[in-house]
Amino acid sequence: MSIQSPDVSFSRLFSGIDVEVPLLNGERQRYTNLDSAASTPALQSVKQAVNRFLEYYSSVHRGMGFKSQLSTNAYEAARRYSIEFLGGSSEEHTCIFVKNATEALNILAHRIAITPERPMVLTSGMEHHSNDLPWRAVAHVVHVGLTPDGRLDEDAFDEILARQGHRIALVSIAGASNVTGYINPLRRLAAKSHAAGALFSVDAAQLAPHRRIDMGALDDPEHFDFVTISAHKMYAPYGSGALVGRKDTFVERAPLLSGGGTVKVVTYEDHVWAETRDEAGSPNVIGAIAMAAAMKALDQIGMDQVARHEAELTRYALEKLATIPGLRIFGSRDAEEASQRLGVIPFEVEGMSHVLVTAVLGYEYGIGARNGRFCAYPYTMHLLGLSDEQIRQANQRIVEGNPSHIPGLVRVSFGLYNTLEDVDRLAAALTDICEQKFLGTYHLDPATGDYIPEGWQVDFDRYFSF
Ligand code: ALA
Repeated sequence: MSIQSPDVSFSRLFSGIDVEVPLLNGERQRYTNLDSAASTPALQSVKQAVNRFLEYYSSVHRGMGFKSQLSTNAYEAARRYSIEFLGGSSEEHTCIFVKNATEALNILAHRIAITPERPMVLTSGMEHHSNDLPWRAVAHVVHVGLTPDGRLDEDAFDEILARQGHRIALVSIAGASNVTGYINPLRRLAAKSHAAGALFSVDAAQLAPHRRIDMGALDDPEHFDFVTISAHKMYAPYGSGALVGRKDTFVERAPLLSGGGTVKVVTYEDHVWAETRDEAGSPNVIGAIAMAAAMKALDQIGMDQVARHEAELTRYALEKLATIPGLRIFGSRDAEEASQRLGVIPFEVEGMSHVLVTAVLGYEYGIGARNGRFCAYPYTMHLLGLSDEQIRQANQRIVEGNPSHIPGLVRVSFGLYNTLEDVDRLAAALTDICEQKFLGTYHLDPATGDYIPEGWQVDFDRYFSF
């Protein structure tokens, strides 16, 4: 496969792609960002939209000046566009702007009706903590089990619904895993959840930048009742996200946060909530506009194109990484499956700490990857195949304040800006690392658990300061 793929042109749409960073050997090299599952660079068009809007920026919903009215108009247009982008409709769905998917899920946990008749929330063993911990605060949470290679076990899902479906208020499942890139069969799971009388929510933080999402009309048995997204994972890192969901959920009960913008009337003794009451305080208008601009860019490129490009990168990466002795991929290794999963690949290098591998990639090859447990501790431990006792010991070390030698994995993840050349760089670096050919002498910092190479000095203020 040639590295002159036509899709190289996508990288030109992004900000900061050609930026060079210092290496341990004193040279500089173009940064290779392979950490889109954590956060993505900004699209140029998003930056431009924000800069154009800043000329008019003013308070929304609060002023009669021209700029206030224009800002309100743009903010509400961003709301309508966000609903549309996720396949909802403004008649049936509302969009609550939030700071990220985590906040969205916390709001949803506070707003859905958990009743004595339906006290349970069903989620899965592969979730990010953000689609697990918020439910624990309000409901009895059950986790659907996993297959040994980390896929959601649909037989176990069916069994739980058959036994306890009548007790479940909500089923909340990741659109795609932030660790293995597996995509869940959402429409099928939604239909089964609705048949049991439960609502269905999708944590789409990982999925939304990579695949078309169609939440569908409420009378479609396969519809999604709620979808949550984070703009910093979809090329608009301006501190926003959205909770898009059925309107009727948000007209009862108190909001999670109260204050300005949440009430119709306030007296010294009492208050009446507004119809829409879930955006307390002055909102992040810039963030909402940035997110809508990113959605527009993705729409214009076409989500099918986006998916094709990422499948090509993933297939190529799986093929190349499979040839490196000493490297073990977790989750699916099947290059033929590349179009049915996201480009998120977890792996380990035999005999080497995941922390050290990621440090060497960064310090010596200018490659940005992530390691650890990816805010999905139970899932990562499951993938590693650790016993309950090994997990208990690792967790105890962390709780006691000793972050060293904790089990985990290295993860690389692709975005629309990556190229086959990025994959070649990764494969070349990992080949060196597996052969122990790297340059530095690394020391473990017991306070952080990180590895730092001898002689490394950097003045970050030289690169950026206020
Ligand atoms: N949850 C994000 C990740 O997977 C931050 O890296």
